[in-house]
Amino acid sequence: MNKLKILTILLIMIGLSGCEQSATGFSLPAGDVAKGEQVFLSMQCLSCHEVEGYERPEGTEDTLSVSLGGKVQSLKTYPELVTSVINPSHRLAKGYDTTKIQVEGESVMPVFNDVLTVTDLVNLITFLESKYELEPYSQTKYIMYH
Ligand code: HEC
Repeated sequence: MNKLKILTILLIMIGLSGCEQSATGFSLPAGDVAKGEQVFLSMQCLSCHEVEGYERPEGTEDTLSVSLGGKVQSLKTYPELVTSVINPSHRLAKGYDTTKIQVEGESVMPVFNDVLTVTDLVNLITFLESKYELEPYSQTKYIMYH
C-alpha cells in the first residue's frame, strides 16, 4: 500500500471514531518514543512549538510558541493528536492569539503528510503522547481568616 492509501484509511478511521472520542476501534502499531523524538527534531517542530526540556532553534522563541506536552487536566487522546498533526486545521489549539496561529481559518502549521511515513507518524505521536502528564483536578482551597 502506498502512503496516500494508508493515510486515507487513517482519516476514515478518525472520521468513524468521531472527534471527541477515545481510541476505540483505532489501533495503530506500537510506536517508539526515541524514534519519535528524532522525527520531532528533524521536522523542526520546535520552530513553532515549545516542549519542556527541549531547546528551541535560535530566533524562533519570539515568533510562535504553541506549547505541547506538560501538565494538562484532560489528556489529548491518541486520535486527537493524530488529527492535530495530519489535519492541523481541523480544530485549532485553544488559548492562543488567533491572528498568529491561523490565516482565514487555516492553521499556519504545515502539513507533513507527504514527508512523514506512517511509521514516522506513529512514532511521533507516541513521543508526543509521552510528553503529556495528567494533572489531577484540584479543588480551590479556601483560606480561613481568623
Ligand atoms: C510553522 C509553525 C509550525 C510548525 C513547524 C509545526 N506546528 Fe504544530 N502547530 C502550529 C500552530 C500555529 C498550532 C496551533 C493551531 C492548530 O491547532 O493547528 C499547532 C498545533 C499543533 C498541535 C495541537 C496542539 C493543541 O494543543 O491542540 C500539535 C499536536 C502539533 N501542532 C504538533 C506539531 C508537530 C509534531 C510538528 C512537527 C512535525 C509541528 N506541530 C510543527 C504551528 C506549527
